[in-house]
Amino acid sequence: MKTDRELKELWFKFFEKHGFKKIPGYSIIPENDPTVLFTTAGMHPLVPYLLGEPHPYGDKIFDVQRCIRTNDIDEVGDASHLTLFEMLGNWTLGACDKKTMIKLSFEFLTSKEYLGLPKERLAVSVFAGDETAPRDEEAYNAWKECGIDQVFYLPKENNWWALGGGVGPCGPDTEMFYDTGKPKCSENCSPACDCGKYLEIWNDVFMQYYVKKPGAKAEKLARPNIDTGMGLERTVTVLNGAESVYDSGCLKKVIDFISDKAKLGYKETAQATRAYRIITDHLRSSVFILGDERGVVPSNIGQGYILRRFIRRAINCARNIGLDCKYFLDIADIYVDEYGKDYEDIAAHREFIKEELEKEIEKFSKALEEGHKEFEKVIAGVEKHKEFAAKTGEKVENKLSGKAVFRLYDTFGFPFELTKELAEERGYSVDKAEFDEKFKEHQEKSRVASAGTFKGGLADSSKQSARLHTATHLLLAGLQKMYGKQVMQKGSNITPERLRFDFNLDHKMSKEELDKIEKFVNDAIARKLPVTCEIMSLEEAKKQGAHGTFTNKYGQEVKVYTIGDVSKEICGGPHAENTEELHHFKIIKEESSSSGIRRIKAILD
Ligand code: ALA
Repeated sequence: MKTDRELKELWFKFFEKHGFKKIPGYSIIPENDPTVLFTTAGMHPLVPYLLGEPHPYGDKIFDVQRCIRTNDIDEVGDASHLTLFEMLGNWTLGACDKKTMIKLSFEFLTSKEYLGLPKERLAVSVFAGDETAPRDEEAYNAWKECGIDQVFYLPKENNWWALGGGVGPCGPDTEMFYDTGKPKCSENCSPACDCGKYLEIWNDVFMQYYVKKPGAKAEKLARPNIDTGMGLERTVTVLNGAESVYDSGCLKKVIDFISDKAKLGYKETAQATRAYRIITDHLRSSVFILGDERGVVPSNIGQGYILRRFIRRAINCARNIGLDCKYFLDIADIYVDEYGKDYEDIAAHREFIKEELEKEIEKFSKALEEGHKEFEKVIAGVEKHKEFAAKTGEKVENKLSGKAVFRLYDTFGFPFELTKELAEERGYSVDKAEFDEKFKEHQEKSRVASAGTFKGGLADSSKQSARLHTATHLLLAGLQKMYGKQVMQKGSNITPERLRFDFNLDHKMSKEELDKIEKFVNDAIARKLPVTCEIMSLEEAKKQGAHGTFTNKYGQEVKVYTIGDVSKEICGGPHAENTEELHHFKIIKEESSSSGIRRIKAILD
């Protein structure tokens, strides 16, 4: 039995041996990349280097990166799909040719010292060629030289890798599959069909091209790179000969835990299996999002909406198997215990993760029963209409109106996708276009409603968060001025409404101390200090005395935010441009967070 950790260690050992340097993984929420909500691959944060910038760690690097991909969310529940996975990645920036990389991949997969997979059980695909780029005979021949029999030429839709949106570095790839030994589903069975015979575990992307803007022709990159990514969970599954990604490692721990508490057993029915897996997967993703230092919480926009969907879908599944949602908090503990070892922000945010989960469960559970009743009423309404229509010969579709779906969203908090899923289980479709229309109307109404009450009309949450972020830096500067530089950030969470900041201090703050801190921040606001950002090496940042809490997590290049002469911190941003945008700072609560750690909640009004 191989564990996730053992596989990570083998990966590290192998690439170190071949002269690669380990780089730190990044946050699950990408910085400065409005095109995606989550980091979807280890290469994401490396785009500047893939486009030609020299990487401070050299031209051969590797890492492990937490990734979230929601495009396959509907497949979750089967044997192999997950919304969150850890990707073992390695990159050569102009430092390696295709054949050498394929030989390295082959060695890692088959050598007894590493994965020791029999080569007969491996299958690979390579790019078949089209008008963009020629057939990848070089890759084909390299695999044949390694002694792989099953080499498939596949078209662009299978063997071409590009970032979401198709813009950026891209190129043909070669994908590596484990042949499960199941019989071929047809004469044309190949890794391209989803019959379950072939399980993808690794992908070497040959980044030879670059697309400058949507629809533009791919141009050759001056310096070709190779970007490879291995799915940790799937590979561990293969190594253990397990039936699904949920049947070994940490995910199995959670499945076993649920089995112990739920009324319906794992694999008792197909629907139960799916529900168990969705809960296991979605709660893990939720723990990673909530545990991330960016402090995303459930909401109706962006990452917060995806998080809300994960939690609410898990709650619905729990209902289907008779699992009390209070156990979600124990499941969160299992995940924090496991992943906190690798990701220190997850370990640091254990309480926050559980608090937010609990809040969301509470919010949704009440609405769920009522919402289900409402949902049944809507279905009954359509059925009645159908009965009636049958008499007149009118045709009525099995379709829920957008209006009804919007009511479930607006009144009962059912994410659109949840209603769609429930409807599909009953053989109904939903009117998405009408739902979107209602949604837009609603947004417009609330925009008008809030215009008079919030500065600048529409409460722009990202701008609001940026202001609170700047206030957080001022707050820390004030605390350090009052108590000394040993005061460090121990946790930070920002919602559009308030900031929450944890720091080390051995006593409860007095009213006078709180007033002083408030005054310190408000003075800085009144001085209209500019907030500037510079990118520099970590070394330079330290030399300039920049404050940074999680320094070992940063890559070599860091962003440093300076607020006049008051604060200098390593930080991902974003921030206000000038402290005057903060208007007025007010502490609303000071309390203990855990032993030796105080927590301040504050607002800008
Ligand atoms: N970036 C490549 C992938 O995600 C390796 O598959």
